[in-house]
Amino acid sequence: MVAIAYTVAFDGVEARLVEVQCSVTAGLPGFGIVGLPDKSVSEARERVRAAFDALSIAMPSRRVTVNLSPADLPKEGSHFDLPIALAVLAALEILPAEALARTVALGELALDGRLSPVAGALPAAMAAAEDGRALIVPRACGPEAAWVGAVPVFAPRNLREAVDHLIDKAPLPRAAPGEMAPAARGNDLSEVRGQERARRVIEIAAAGRHHLLMIGPPGASKSMLATRLPGILPPLTPAEALETSVIHSVAGLLSDGGISRSAPFCQPHHTASMAAMVGGGRNARPGQASLAHNGVLFLDELPEFERRVIDALREPIETGEIHVSRANAHICYPARFLLVAAANPCRCGETADAGKPCPRAPRCQSDYLGRISGPMMDRFDLRIDMPQVSYEELALPPSGESSETVAARVAAARALQTRRFADHPHARVNADASGRLLEEIAPLDAECRTLLGCAAERLGLTPRGYHRILRAARTIADLDASAAIRKPHLAEALCYRLPFGRPD
Ligand SMILES: Nc1ncnc2c1ncn2[C@@H]1O[C@H](COP(=O)(O)OP(=O)(O)OP(=O)(O)O)[C@@H](O)[C@H]1O
Ligand SMILES: [Mg+2]
Ligand SMILES: [Zn+2]
Repeated sequence: MVAIAYTVAFDGVEARLVEVQCSVTAGLPGFGIVGLPDKSVSEARERVRAAFDALSIAMPSRRVTVNLSPADLPKEGSHFDLPIALAVLAALEILPAEALARTVALGELALDGRLSPVAGALPAAMAAAEDGRALIVPRACGPEAAWVGAVPVFAPRNLREAVDHLIDKAPLPRAAPGEMAPAARGNDLSEVRGQERARRVIEIAAAGRHHLLMIGPPGASKSMLATRLPGILPPLTPAEALETSVIHSVAGLLSDGGISRSAPFCQPHHTASMAAMVGGGRNARPGQASLAHNGVLFLDELPEFERRVIDALREPIETGEIHVSRANAHICYPARFLLVAAANPCRCGETADAGKPCPRAPRCQSDYLGRISGPMMDRFDLRIDMPQVSYEELALPPSGESSETVAARVAAARALQTRRFADHPHARVNADASGRLLEEIAPLDAECRTLLGCAAERLGLTPRGYHRILRAARTIADLDASAAIRKPHLAEALCYRLPFGRPD
């Protein structure tokens, strides 16, 4: 007889239903798993065997074959242990086959039969809900999976509890969703002294999700400002929070089952590998760019990153998605983030305004910033240079606005954009607006056209640079609650064009 249990396999961040078929036939004793399993799935054999021992269930001295269907979908991860164990138990008629028909199960077995947490419980619950099935996950994953709500989630501690639940001997209670983590405020913007211009740019970046490059000497508060961005970004909508949490779940990073409404903040080190940044690798996991989905990706010391790793971000910046090719599959991960990058003006990090000009200027600077490719540089809507804060400024008491005050203005500007883009599925914020859409949402009056015409000539503006200025000007006008883009808005947008670096 063929017994069937259900589980999921991950295709990017999507969980796809997998049928675990098991047959026990006459023949040489053995335990085989087929259906494109990777090594961790094949190893399930040993863990299942040991867990059965712990339950005093003897493996039959016949041939046990497990087939994971659909066969063309690669199966990865240790979460196949539990469904495989359940299918074998049903094939041995220890479990009634009907008991498994309406259930999706995932979990890793320890040698003593305990169930260890696995990645991906949240998207697995979504797949189970879509299919109208209940879900069994290890105890630690229950709160995370229960967020989906539409699906009954049961979270046994070990294989015995799972079996007793399925045969109705000791039904488990439904798992309750974890706590919604309060929006973390973190450090406050008011702690940053001086730097009015940079503070303003951070606000514009947050309001329109404009990618931002800050160039300044060590100690110019670049890191300080970037880390305060999550505090001024609007909290995620429930849909966004779920999107982001699914990615974190697949990466195995949703600890305590808590879903958070704070925008994620990811700061990969400059030695980050390609797989760490965009995902994929041997055990496919979302990379930092995807973990930053709906939040901030902060690349400190941008020129120090490997150039191909940075250039790999060009695709998600354009499309909001990352496609990773692997030996046997293509994976797609969501990755819509606000890119904030920081760099020293030159390799030695010296600065003229602190009275220590770089001895190798200007070559040092152009060589260093030249490591950022032109197309990448082109993707920053806002580029500013920042001076070092003076000692006088540091000595003064903090005078700037708090994160809360700035967040309120950002939220108001975002609300205008949400209304503006209600009928445009491909744009959520001003930074997403394409050239054609920009003509509609950012028309210029005669005065602005003259100003932009002069600037274009002086700056040698390309069409892309032109659009970048319009997008930033649109956001500056939104922060001013102005329906039209006026000359001061446009003039301000023109200011955030770095005087050095590559021309457009
Ligand atoms: N505007 C400021 N107000 C108050 N403290 C500041 C300010 N700027 C810098 N500091 C102090 O200097 C420290 C270093 O600042 P920060 O890390 O932001 O500099 P950075 O520009 O990122 O430098 P690096 O290029 O070395 O990374 C901060 O931790 C803070 O203590
Ligand atoms: Mg820094
Ligand atoms: Zn230098």
